[in-house]
Amino acid sequence: MGLNVEEIRKDFPILKRVVNGNPLIYFDNAATTQRPVQVVAAIARFYLQYNANVHRGFHTLSQEASEAFEEAHEVIAHFINAYSWEEVILTYNTTESINIVAFTWGLKNLREGDEIILTVMDHHSNMLPWRKVAEITGAKIRYVDITDDGLLRYDMLEEMISEKTKVVAFPMMSNVLGTMNDVKRIAKIAHSVGAIVVADGAQWVPHAPTDVRDLRIDFLAFSGHKMLGPTGTGVLWGRKDILEDLEPFKSGGDTIKDVTLDSVIWHDLPWRFEAGTPNIAGAIGLAEAVKYLMRIGMENVREHEKELVRHTLKRFEELADDVDVYGPKNPEVRGGVVSFNVKGLHYHTVGKALDLFGIAVRTGGHCAHPLHYRLGIKGTVRASYYIYNTVEEVDRFIEVLKTIVKLKDRLAKEKVEDVCTGG
Ligand code: ALA
Repeated sequence: MGLNVEEIRKDFPILKRVVNGNPLIYFDNAATTQRPVQVVAAIARFYLQYNANVHRGFHTLSQEASEAFEEAHEVIAHFINAYSWEEVILTYNTTESINIVAFTWGLKNLREGDEIILTVMDHHSNMLPWRKVAEITGAKIRYVDITDDGLLRYDMLEEMISEKTKVVAFPMMSNVLGTMNDVKRIAKIAHSVGAIVVADGAQWVPHAPTDVRDLRIDFLAFSGHKMLGPTGTGVLWGRKDILEDLEPFKSGGDTIKDVTLDSVIWHDLPWRFEAGTPNIAGAIGLAEAVKYLMRIGMENVREHEKELVRHTLKRFEELADDVDVYGPKNPEVRGGVVSFNVKGLHYHTVGKALDLFGIAVRTGGHCAHPLHYRLGIKGTVRASYYIYNTVEEVDRFIEVLKTIVKLKDRLAKEKVEDVCTGG
């Protein structure tokens, strides 16, 4: 059936903005997406009509807020085909979700001599928490490399896996290369030695169907703000039998059933992991975003982005002498992300020049410095797509890049401050 992009765009008033005299082309979706009016309206309805704290009162407003908050867990559970809504823990972002797994399951189960397998294509959020936990427990980190084409070295994973392996954590999709990894294959290899499988879904869940049962993973982390939801929303899904065995990451209000001066009985799932007053408005907004995505269909989202990437890679061939493009050439194994460099120009210079034409991209290390070092570079320019982007926008982007290439000698003289953009 496909996406009706023209209709979708009407839900995003921000796309009508003019930036530096040009219509905005928003190609920074891997960092954060825009929000449709439906999501903003759901948040406004909460604040204007039934704002109250959840799980703390019998008054009508608190009941309504609690119901909407609990329903958000159910909507998300349905979206990823969780076994139960109790497996859905609302967090603040992917980073927090991964920290929860590392500092609860990891600290409880890892010992000196154990191994944690990560990949060189992980972003910092799926690297640093595991490195910290390894430092504390004495476990060892090992990294699976990539091929020259930007694919994961499954042969290396198979060689590396052993009885010592306790965790295999990896990005379902690379936020730089766009590579979509074979999640089932990785899970099968990890489970062959009884390791747990932690899937970083930050770049996958917003862009392709996700079925945690079919994928046979144990944990899944993703962010709401990368899929039309509000900032400050994220999800950790985990298998109930594993979560039930764990104590809270942060403790306090809502994590308990009872407390005396010297004892505590932890709450049921998922509340045990949602300490303090949660981001209620965020949860309601995220549920609305998920409903929006389910209405348009995740298969359609994936097909649309595949088409945009196919078109981009084809058009980049016209710039082959002047531009290096990274990641797999095959759109079947690649999500809606295209990272590149214009030869002889700093990535920040290219990003700034694109902005003059109203085109928003991210430049720098994209929170994945080790991957860039592996590629022998320090950073890239990254165009990343979503449901409201069009082939016409890609064409305009390529034409603007041609202009930038023509002005290369002049632009190269510009002084660039090599700032690290949040990486
Ligand atoms: N990991 C996010 C990105 O790729 C922040 O931009």
